[in-house]
Amino acid sequence: VWSQKAVKEAKPVGKVHIAATSESTNFDRIPRPDDIRYSANPAYVHITTNNTIYGTQWRTEPAVPSGVPLVADTSSDMYSRPIDVQKYGLIYAGAQKNLGPSGVVLVIIRNDMVEAGSKSIPTMLQYRTHAAENSLYNTPPTFGIYVMGEVFKWIQAEGGLGAMAERNQAKAQLLYDFIDESEFFRGTAQTQDRSLMNVCFRAPSEELEAKFIGEATKRGLDGLKGHRSAGGMRASIYNACPRRSVEALVAFMKEFERSNRGAAAALKQPAI
Ligand SMILES: Cc1ncc(COP(=O)(O)O)c(C=O)c1O
Repeated sequence: VWSQKAVKEAKPVGKVHIAATSESTNFDRIPRPDDIRYSANPAYVHITTNNTIYGTQWRTEPAVPSGVPLVADTSSDMYSRPIDVQKYGLIYAGAQKNLGPSGVVLVIIRNDMVEAGSKSIPTMLQYRTHAAENSLYNTPPTFGIYVMGEVFKWIQAEGGLGAMAERNQAKAQLLYDFIDESEFFRGTAQTQDRSLMNVCFRAPSEELEAKFIGEATKRGLDGLKGHRSAGGMRASIYNACPRRSVEALVAFMKEFERSNRGAAAALKQPAI
């Protein structure tokens, strides 16, 4: 979804080549190295590090042709784990997942990329404008930036990005382990590409999914409905989501499976 939007925005200013996509399997995986076909002389390669809607995540960066900048939308997994900024020409992330309130975008850009951008796009959209003005070209969203600073201090106090990664890995593992042993719920992303931020799963029928989401909400397990374009369920377990919330969700899923096994079995009976 996010890369498709990046493609749409890039088309008016350049030639777009889609090097790889898992659209044919409903975005259930990250492209394998063999799936990737770059164009002859790319100006840059763009990826979305975590697919917020379909629940897949790049484990490591793709290999890019020598000297070609890698550009990444890291909005939904920024600072959930260490990131080797040296591998990127440009990283951008909307704040609203792991960093702070919406309305702020964090950008990490290599010096040479600041000047490489087109001058024919509006001034406000050129990174050189913001770099030259110390991000004060326009009135910045001060409150959001302040809160982001507080979140960064919190991350450091909690042990930094390494500690965040360990925590996020353990939280996601709890959920995926249960989904894998469940005969009722099933994960939608391919195992090796599963996101540690957005755990997407389905129940045996859309009716049971609606019942699950409704009952979970009554328990205070809110926001589990999958994105409208993907359906099913999605547990977004960003940095701020504590382990005990994931434990509560798994406990509820177990209970729901036990009490709805009959309804699921009935679905498997052939119609008479
Ligand atoms: C990976 C990714 N990119 C971009 C966006 C869009 O962010 P915004 O709504 O701030 O434009 C989102 C929002 O969820 C996202 O998850």
